[in-house]
Amino acid sequence: MKVLVVGGAGYIGSHMVNALSKKDCKVVVLDDLSGGHRDAVRNADLVVGSLAERERLDRLLGAHKFDAVMHFASFIEVGRSVRDPAAYYRNNLINTLNLLEAMMANGVRRFVFSSTAAIFGEPESSPIDEQHRKAPINPYGHSKLMVEQILSDYAKAYGLESVCLRYFNAAGADAQAGLGERHDPETHLIPLVLQTAAGRREAISIFGTDYDTPDGTCIRDYVHVMDLCDAHWLALQRLLSGTGSGRYNLGNGLGYSVQQVIDTARAVTSREIAVRHEPRRPGDPARLVADSTLARKELGWHPQRAELERIIADAWAWEQQRPLARLADLAA
Ligand code: UFG
Repeated sequence: MKVLVVGGAGYIGSHMVNALSKKDCKVVVLDDLSGGHRDAVRNADLVVGSLAERERLDRLLGAHKFDAVMHFASFIEVGRSVRDPAAYYRNNLINTLNLLEAMMANGVRRFVFSSTAAIFGEPESSPIDEQHRKAPINPYGHSKLMVEQILSDYAKAYGLESVCLRYFNAAGADAQAGLGERHDPETHLIPLVLQTAAGRREAISIFGTDYDTPDGTCIRDYVHVMDLCDAHWLALQRLLSGTGSGRYNLGNGLGYSVQQVIDTARAVTSREIAVRHEPRRPGDPARLVADSTLARKELGWHPQRAELERIIADAWAWEQQRPLARLADLAA
């Protein structure tokens, strides 16, 4: 089987490329390296390029007979999407349309799309299942929901089958494979907490301690990146079997507060982690927890690494390799 992984040099994409190669898939990665890292691409051909280059996309898709495309290449910072929506709609929406059009033109009709819990906006109920009202509160969430809508219309009109996977809080790493989270700038809680434990930051800021939660800090559903890869593999099997399109929320159904994440990181690392209490970050819902019953039922997805200790331990193993990754970036 031959798969095009767009954004395969990024955090989740690079884990997926590695997972596909272990399943004996032939993988081609398309990545502009704006957020990805050349050395994170394992056992795959890397084509450095952007989805903005429609003719180049046609040549790439024309030169290979891809069985499916997986698309991980999007901007993900909620705050930046509010400050610069144009960049978000261009990259997350227009560039995705380019990709879909090139797929249609070249007869590729299976697509796995990285969507997000941000499509739901402020939750009306918890846990959040697929039926929950979709009302994004920032351009990032809107851009992802628009692509989901486009995919439903393309299925009806052109027979493009897609699976949209709505990640809750992706975390963890495959440190044994030398892969982990390498965003720059980093905005996500777990890597920032672990950078503090490693002495690379002075303190971790807690954004808000007055939420309506047991300890006053926000609750999130952290899901291991390798469990997300398992879901992508199952999504691909669903598309190959002709069962049709699907939309799934991916989380463990376990909510952990910011304070619990910090406490668990202290236990896992045996290090001091200094905290700074700061005001709420705009746009953060108090609680985001997934109901993934549908993914379990229809995809047969059973997360194997659901415990927060495991997620943080794996991210910590990666954090200790970070200096090596920095050297690789400098050499690239
Ligand atoms: N947080 C802190 N301090 C920090 C960083 C984060 O207290 O330094 C808090 C946030 O306020 C939030 C929680 O930790 O309550 C998790 O924050 P992250 O930034 O790690 O993740 P988000 O829940 O904001 O965002 C994630 C994805 C987004 C996606 C969103 C969907 O990273 O791409 O889930 O809800 F849009």
